[in-house]
Amino acid sequence: MELRVFGERREAELALAREIAELVRLRRDEGRGAVLGLATGRTPVGVYAELVRMHREEGLDFARVVTFNLDEFEGVSADAPGSFRRFMHEHLFAHVNLAPECVHLLRSDLTGAAAAAHCEEYEAAIRDAGGIDLQVLGVGLNGHVGFNEPGSPRDSRTRRVELHPVTRRSYSDGLGEEAPTHALSMGIATILEARRLRVLALGAHKADIVAELLRGEPRAEVPASLLHGHPDVRLLTDPEAATASSPTP
Ligand code: GLP
Repeated sequence: MELRVFGERREAELALAREIAELVRLRRDEGRGAVLGLATGRTPVGVYAELVRMHREEGLDFARVVTFNLDEFEGVSADAPGSFRRFMHEHLFAHVNLAPECVHLLRSDLTGAAAAAHCEEYEAAIRDAGGIDLQVLGVGLNGHVGFNEPGSPRDSRTRRVELHPVTRRSYSDGLGEEAPTHALSMGIATILEARRLRVLALGAHKADIVAELLRGEPRAEVPASLLHGHPDVRLLTDPEAATASSPTP
């Protein structure tokens, strides 16, 4: 896993937004649309803001871009404050020229066999799109990626998952309401199939997990560590997140 420590948060956000923009232009020149894997959470907000700016001011064209979001809460309506669908519309989709049929989000209104079938269809849609070119990832305080909580196996695919108490607490703190108990999430194996993985970890509250991630052998207790060994995985941090991560002698 390649570590890049930027001088400040903004530089990391701009670097990732520029990489995404270059990929979008490259694929467009090749006559096809880039396939992007997208994450929610506080971390990528500045990246999406910069993509919106590039669309408005520089004409960055999303007409053929295809997107797949990582995860979604179960049972949260599309207009609820915690809805990832709502988040993506507010921060990106409503402000760029993505074609609605090219935007893919996991549904929040399914349970049981219907949810399982939907997850299989989601995997098939990713394959039909030619696979994900670049997956944007944040990392949870307990090392989760998407909603792959500690213990998630390396061969996991898109599925219904139970949320860890740490995850539920961090959401209910932010939302002022009880976080749902379950979610649908791409699996670790699904994520590992993306051609580029870009993990953003910003701020002092991510220092421990960044240190753990860089120190540790891949193990299911720290799901983000299972991304080690991917041929093109980069961890983008700011000095606050990287403080505890200088190599130990
Ligand atoms: C969440 C999401 C992840 C996200 C992570 C970090 O629970 N399911 O996709 O990357 O937590 O969130 P934040 O960026 O707010 O720290």
